[in-house]
Parts: sequence; C-alpha cells; structure tokens
Amino acid sequence: MSSEVTAPVPFPLTLPAVVATARRHCTERCFAYHASWRIFRRAGLKGHPGWHTGFYQRALTTHPLPAHGRVRVLICGASDEAMLATLARFLPPEHLEAHLIDACPTPLHLATAYARRTGITLTTGLDRAPALAGCTGPYDVIVTDGLLSLLPAPGDRTALLARLADLLAPGGLVLYTARIAGAAGVLEYDRIGRRLQAATARALWPAPADQRRHLAGQILARPSRPSPFTAPGQVRAAFTAVFGDVRCYLRRTPPTLTLALAPTVRAGQGSTCVGIAARAPRSLP
Ligand SMILES: C[S@@+](CC[C@H](N)C(=O)[O-])C[C@H]1O[C@@H](n2cnc3c(N)ncnc32)[C@H](O)[C@@H]1O
Repeated sequence: MSSEVTAPVPFPLTLPAVVATARRHCTERCFAYHASWRIFRRAGLKGHPGWHTGFYQRALTTHPLPAHGRVRVLICGASDEAMLATLARFLPPEHLEAHLIDACPTPLHLATAYARRTGITLTTGLDRAPALAGCTGPYDVIVTDGLLSLLPAPGDRTALLARLADLLAPGGLVLYTARIAGAAGVLEYDRIGRRLQAATARALWPAPADQRRHLAGQILARPSRPSPFTAPGQVRAAFTAVFGDVRCYLRRTPPTLTLALAPTVRAGQGSTCVGIAARAPRSLP
C-alpha cells in the first residue's frame, strides 16, 4: 500500500508554502494540524524531534552504525521535515538513506522538498501504523516521535513495536521520542493549540464557509487526547516487552522558553521529554 509521493519541484519551506501543501493534500481530518504545525514548532509550543537533539546525538554517535555505505533509516510518521533535519545533523547526507512514511502526503512533500535542497537521499511512502504494510526493510535505524501516543489501543502500540522489530536489520536500533504529560494529564498549551487549529480550519480549509465553520466547531469540541503513558517507566515497559536492550533518557528542563513559562511547568508539574533507544528484538511467539 506504500506509494511514493514526489514533489514536482523543490519549494521553499515557508509558512505560506506549507499551508498551500496542506490545502492541496490533507484531508479534513488532518488539515488544521498540518497547516498550523509550523507555527507550533516555531513558537516552541509543541514537541518535535528538535527538542530531543541531545538524545539523538548520543544515540546515533555511540551506536555502531554501518561503517561503509549508507545508513538505512526509516522515519515512521513525521509532521514535517524536522525529523529529517535532526537526523542530518548527525548522519551526513552522503551516509544517510532515509525512507519516510506517514498517513498523510503533506509531510512527505515537505520532507522531500527539504531533502532535495540539502542533498539527502529520501524516499517516501503513504503508509499507516501499526501495520506499515508498505515497508519492507531492513533498516539500520528506525526513528519515530510521538507516534505511540496516536495509537490509543494498547494492542496497536504493541503491534507497532513488533512490526518495527521485524523491520530492523541485525544490530539495528529503534529510537523513540515523546513527551509525557505531568500531573495535569494533558500536555501544555493543549487548549491554545486547539483554538489555533480551529482558527486555521475556519480561515483556510478549502471548502464553503459553513463547512469551514463546522470543521472549526468539531476541533474545538473534540476532547483532549488522553496520553497512553503517565510515567516514563510505562514507555520503557512497552519497549522491554518487545526488545531485549532498552535504554531510557529523560529531560526535565523545558526545551523552550514558551514551555518554561507554562503554568504547569512553573508549578513543577510540567511534561517530561523521554527518549528510548531499543535494540535486540526478542523472539516473540
Ligand atoms: C508521528 S506524529 C509526529 C509528530 C512530531 N512531533 C513531529 O514533529 O514530527 C504526527 C504524524 O503522524 C501521522 N500519523 C498519525 N497517525 C498515524 C498512523 N496510524 N500511521 C502513520 N502516520 C500517522 C500524522 O499524519 C502526522 O503527520
């Protein structure tokens, strides 16, 4: 089911270009998210791979990667080109062969534009977790940021980790990053985020005004997504069920000023950045 998405020409990754890409390729379900994501990322409101740069650096520079030839990396879901850019800081373009999958074409187009501009070898495919039916592997490294939190059923999370284990080359490494909500149970700026997404839908979704208003109303009425994990140990446990060697790294200092100013963070109850490095898949029944 994986199908390549090719941007016709490299385009600048400006906010208007991102919005135009989302208008062209997103469905109603993800338009407001992808069209506004860049604002969240730039404003330091929502987590992205750049918040875990230290973790990726440590994991990628200490793990023995293929010394000759390219490192085959699977990026499993990404809102835009940020994961590719983070990887490229530690794996030079001549050493990196990346494949990005996502359920929506928009991030595939954004990452392709970035790859063309920076000389990174990137293929892309539309695909959906947990099945990842279009991925063939094997990959030396598999990276994913926050995807487990988007799979509400525990069985789907285990199925995804088992599928990633299947796709891993011998000696390969899975890297997962995410934020775990603090005592509030919801990530910082959830409500502001919802309002911005609703405003984006209302102003920019390519549909008649009544449909735009309806979509904005749905976004505002949607309940906050509950995090499947309430403590870093739970993320670690999900991985140790599937992998024999799991390391967990925590970052409690807020990665951005915006986050540092959030009331929950100032009250000492903010979210925690978690990085998991997993290898040695267990033989599952
Ligand atoms: C994985 S998270 C990544 C967010 C992260 N903070 C970032 O900066 O890349 C969001 C992405 O996952 C994609 N997505 C959501 N559910 C998915 C699924 N079941 N399979 C594949 N992609 C999915 C969305 O289309 C979105 O682009």
